[in-house]
Amino acid sequence: MPLSKDFMFGTATASYQIEGAANEGGRCPSIWDTFSHEPGHTVNGDTGDVATDSYHRYKEDIALLKELGVDAYRFSIAMPRIVPTELGPTNEEGIDFYERVVDELLANGIKPCATLYHWDLPQYLGDKGGWLNRDTAWRVADYAQRVAGRLGDRVDTWITLNEPWCSSYLSYGGTEHAPGLGGGPVAFEAVHHLNLAHGLMAQALRSAITKQDAKLAVTLNLQFNRGDADAVHRADLIGNRVFLDPMLRGYYPEELFAITKGICDWDFIKDGDLERIHQPIDLLGINYYSTGLLAMSDRPQFPQSTAASTFPGCSDIDWLPTPGEHTEMGWNIDPNGLYDMLVRVHNNYPEMPMFITENGIACADELVTETDPATGEPVKAVHDDKRIAYLTKHFDAARRAMEAGVDLRGYFVWSMLDNFEWAFGYTKRFGITYVDYETQERTAKDSFKWYKQLIASRELPV
Ligand code: NOJ
Repeated sequence: MPLSKDFMFGTATASYQIEGAANEGGRCPSIWDTFSHEPGHTVNGDTGDVATDSYHRYKEDIALLKELGVDAYRFSIAMPRIVPTELGPTNEEGIDFYERVVDELLANGIKPCATLYHWDLPQYLGDKGGWLNRDTAWRVADYAQRVAGRLGDRVDTWITLNEPWCSSYLSYGGTEHAPGLGGGPVAFEAVHHLNLAHGLMAQALRSAITKQDAKLAVTLNLQFNRGDADAVHRADLIGNRVFLDPMLRGYYPEELFAITKGICDWDFIKDGDLERIHQPIDLLGINYYSTGLLAMSDRPQFPQSTAASTFPGCSDIDWLPTPGEHTEMGWNIDPNGLYDMLVRVHNNYPEMPMFITENGIACADELVTETDPATGEPVKAVHDDKRIAYLTKHFDAARRAMEAGVDLRGYFVWSMLDNFEWAFGYTKRFGITYVDYETQERTAKDSFKWYKQLIASRELPV
């Protein structure tokens, strides 16, 4: 299927997962520094202190992007580098760094797509309650305003939040992500404050951006589930519509209040909040990896467990084992889920163009040294056929969705390079570029070469 010249092929990363240089450039600690440094939170006690050292190696990474031929690169900006002290001045060293990244991308013909919040909240905001504190939304919007004031003439696409589902449920409901509060229903308060932050950031961006055709977006990891219709409907309300409806429609669905009765009274919604949240945006970013299989249970399977607290209001839903092939993360491979989800979101919010801001797979990649048949010299390689198969099927699903009428404007592969996979540390590799963490040497995997050809063809696979 031939694509419009504006369709964005890209790859994605995030600041805490790649930058390292945790104590450089005037950066303050984030909640992920604190969390990862506390014992027991990440596999092997891994932290983002060094990560892929992209703070120092960004030129090398952008050269790889150029070689790949992407139209756009999705990266994130770390608030701890920009506003390292509460209400303090903008840290020039921090903003300079991102200015260099953006200029290097533009010099190489790559559109910068900047996410403003990809989970690295300054610890000083964490100390005041983080996303349970309403004021955090205003602090983050102020930071967005400062960044857009400086880069608003050059960034092509702005993404307010990345996956607020994770920054609320996994972080305040459960214990998987920073700050790991495990507070169950308090997660709804975090949800609301993240929604507020989205709206306030969108307003701040609109007022500060000067680039005429810049686009404004948010990235959600919508949960696409199959199985018992009632369970699927409830999980949809709690996992998806709790973000989509206020952001795109200006209300929370009444049913959400009904199903959370007794565990949350939603009294943190203040007058004017829904107007603040409901701001015009140009694109909806979707991160897609896998699907769930649900059943209603009259015998809550995990009444006291993390699952119940991570997804408050869902304690009588069972997450069943999914059929078929799974990835190194234990996630099922379900390309039709991507098709179904895109079509469904399109049907429910037909005015909203979408782009896939993340899709990819963690594989047990092995770096091998072989003899180059052409030169007889030793060369390093990673034969990640499983990743190529995964991406081929998902690009195909995206093409089918477009043929079915979905207005899809781009596709970003997660990730440009292996990186710090949050609670899993460096044990999971999502990159199309292999990183040797001892030497920081980058090696293009076979999937990189495959993606390069796909981009050059400007067609989605059939
Ligand atoms: C979603 C997140 O945005 C990203 O940070 C993470 O690494 C990938 N999914 C893979 O889990």
